[in-house]
Amino acid sequence: MIQKNAASGTSTAAPPARPRTAPAGTHTERKAEPHRLFPTKNDLPAATRTRVAELLNARLADCIDLQTQCKQAHWNVKGPNFIALHKLFDDINEDVEEYVDLLAERVVQLGGSAEGTARMVADRTTLDEYPGVADGEDHVDALSSALAAFGKVTRKAIDQVEELEDADTVDILTEISRGVDKWLWFVEAHQQ
Ligand SMILES: [Fe+2]
Repeated sequence: MIQKNAASGTSTAAPPARPRTAPAGTHTERKAEPHRLFPTKNDLPAATRTRVAELLNARLADCIDLQTQCKQAHWNVKGPNFIALHKLFDDINEDVEEYVDLLAERVVQLGGSAEGTARMVADRTTLDEYPGVADGEDHVDALSSALAAFGKVTRKAIDQVEELEDADTVDILTEISRGVDKWLWFVEAHQQ
């Protein structure tokens, strides 16, 4: 087993790939990292593509977090509505997985790098942690809160990207927002 040097955090002499603007491992440091673009013949200005890719990576972290929460609900739900909720939560997961792909692949189309590892997501997500609940009603409450939170930041991203004049990303975000609103309706209908 190869042991890394825990004190220095490095195992090679390679220079840091990106300049550090804050102490290593902090939220600020990760968010402050500049995003380098790969060359592309896409005619959107590089400044636009950089900013949109940053925004999309932020929402990608939220979306991957949301997807794991759908599965968490799918696996752990109990109670008289078990089968209906178990299936519903998996249907939502399938759509959210598609949203994850849409966000990540748009980043790459713009010349950016999709940043969706578990560690990146844990560091960046704006969603609250999923609660340790079992009862169907509690899962309905928890997952509707997560869907609503993601819907809110996605709607905000639509406005932000509209200002940056990237109509295609606006279209992708609108599609996602529309889907999230639909699933929020499906989940909330269980408590209305
Ligand atoms: Fe399953």
